[in-house]
Amino acid sequence: MIPDKAPKEDVFHGSEDLKKEAHVSSFDRYKELYASSIERPDEFWGDIAKDFFWKTKHTGPLLQYNFDVTKGEIFVKCMEGATTNISYNLLDRNVHERKLGDRVAFYWEGNEPGDELTVTYRELLQSVCRFANVLKSQGVKKGDRVSIYMPMVVELVVAMLACARIGAVHSIVFAGFSAESLCERIMDSQCSLLITADGFYRGDKLINLKLLADEALQKCRDKGFPLDKCIMLRHLSKEAEDTSQSPPAKRACPDLQVPWNPDVDLCWLSLTRAASDECEPEWCESEDPLFILYTSGSTGKPKGVLHTVAGYMLYTATTFKLVFDHQPDDVYWCTADIGWITGHSYITYGPLANGATSVLFEGLPTYPDVSRMWEIVDKYHVSKFYTAPTAIRLLMKYGSEPVKKFKRDSLKVLGTVGEPINPEAWHWYYNVVGEGRCPIVDTFWQTETGGHVLTPLPAATPMKPGSATFPFFGVVPAILNESGEELEGPSEGYLVFKQPWPGVMRTVFGNHQRFETIYFKKFPGYYVTGDGCRRDKDGYYWVTGRIDDMLNVSGHLLSTAEVESALVEHEAVAEAAVVGRPHPVKGESLYCFVTLNDGLTLSRSLEAELKQQVREKIGAIATPDFIQNAPGLPKTRSGKIMRRVLRKIACDERELGDVSTLADSSVVEQLFQNRCGAGV
Ligand code: WTA
Repeated sequence: MIPDKAPKEDVFHGSEDLKKEAHVSSFDRYKELYASSIERPDEFWGDIAKDFFWKTKHTGPLLQYNFDVTKGEIFVKCMEGATTNISYNLLDRNVHERKLGDRVAFYWEGNEPGDELTVTYRELLQSVCRFANVLKSQGVKKGDRVSIYMPMVVELVVAMLACARIGAVHSIVFAGFSAESLCERIMDSQCSLLITADGFYRGDKLINLKLLADEALQKCRDKGFPLDKCIMLRHLSKEAEDTSQSPPAKRACPDLQVPWNPDVDLCWLSLTRAASDECEPEWCESEDPLFILYTSGSTGKPKGVLHTVAGYMLYTATTFKLVFDHQPDDVYWCTADIGWITGHSYITYGPLANGATSVLFEGLPTYPDVSRMWEIVDKYHVSKFYTAPTAIRLLMKYGSEPVKKFKRDSLKVLGTVGEPINPEAWHWYYNVVGEGRCPIVDTFWQTETGGHVLTPLPAATPMKPGSATFPFFGVVPAILNESGEELEGPSEGYLVFKQPWPGVMRTVFGNHQRFETIYFKKFPGYYVTGDGCRRDKDGYYWVTGRIDDMLNVSGHLLSTAEVESALVEHEAVAEAAVVGRPHPVKGESLYCFVTLNDGLTLSRSLEAELKQQVREKIGAIATPDFIQNAPGLPKTRSGKIMRRVLRKIACDERELGDVSTLADSSVVEQLFQNRCGAGV
């Protein structure tokens, strides 16, 4: 499956320097380790597990599983019988055993240049213990779910690790999501406490987060789920005498109107001031839940992806170490938000498990100007840098000048995640940002996979622009055709995995059946990613994008059903169908067809209302780019909307393929004539 020899033609390499110190320094070494990870997984992961602290050791096989629905319930267990605590491994182990207490865990860089803070491992451990005690004092127990809705501040990491320390399960909701989305997630996970902040700036824009959090709690109450505890961090409205942790923001906002309900709201600062900075960790079973993170589902209802303690720890730690070739003097920077899986695995868990020093950035790549990223790289001498293709495409538009204004000679490895990277963006990243010196690790993975599953290793894998190359250790990919047959050699079809690795999700929270249906029913015996994939003559994997009803906007997954249901909730809309249309920066943009109720026309104000409706229901990332009035939608005789045809209309492509099943073909011409953004 993996070629004997790495190809020599049409491939790129990183600098020779990197190979000298690399953990995996050649393609042959990668192949050797890969073979042992597949043939002797218990030994492979068992060796890695020795670096971690286990209160009690595991018994029996390291990895136990059933991946075949025809043989019974799907399950994966890693290190059964062992007990540990992930916050202990990330913090206490680094401070006490590895003597890294004075090492910087995070350089926090605020939205406003000049807002900065340095946090060492020792300080982080103290803050986590304090906050863990706060959670306990509020009655949070092992297994309880805690919602976290916060901006990119150090306290977000503190909150998540404090949950992990006491065995509570965090459910982080990205601070760009709407009140409605937060309410839905709080209710689905039955959270007993919410942690939020007063507000934050995104570039120039002030977001009053507490207002949104309150709105969400009101919605929960209205729906019969009263959650009556909310801890709020003052990030912008800090009082003058408050000298805690983060310094007062340059752009402090003391008069931010923060709604306060004394029956529900609690102040982060006063609670932590009163708490002890010692907290014995809760010793958790390996398979105890660590967190829930919601990701879009094709039915429109988000899925609560559940990860567990030991397997997730081993997998994120190992992928971080090898994919970024982590070295002790590195400064690592992942630009993702912690509210997404990339931030969970590669800002918090993977880096801290390795005792890494990271940049934690609150702001935007374009604020105050389009040089900001490179200014930060220069300021902190970032050596490993991880971002998304959409950010690269956005910055590419401004040319190389803003990049070249700053030194980038500290950079050693560049990474991407979130969607396929188009070769043009790849070359710009490689040549302009990395000066032709730094390998690019194009990491394919999902919220569900916990960590990278297809990825180059920077000193070992020759790169092909746009390919995520080969599987990580323990991962066995296959390509299936529509009938579920495994294809050999160069081929294209469904990307699936044949066996679990420690970091794979364990269930959909509260709905194991949905988990089995979504990922295991279509092709029994395989985990189905939902992505299409091509394998070339050299065995390289090229992920081609989603093959279900999902869209990838700026690296974030959205389901068409989710946006459609937000649209049809508007009283003017009878029916809606949403498709993706290629977009030069975002990857895909949202093109919505709406059938209005009788007698209504799509005025500008209605269009604006519909966009606002989607923002309110889901969040700004789901704002439609185009809304077209569709008096009729192309449907099959059985009434199924033919999205394939709508996609063609959105792109103005007249080659429709087979439309023999279309019930009324006249609607198609009508839709072509009334396209939005004709000529785009
Ligand atoms: C897509 C993000 C191609 C893919 C970590 C996947 C990618 C979905 C890549 C998961 C990549 C992510 N190349 N496609 N390197 N990385 N994807 O759950 O469609 O937010 O299924 O996890 O993003 O998105 P999620």
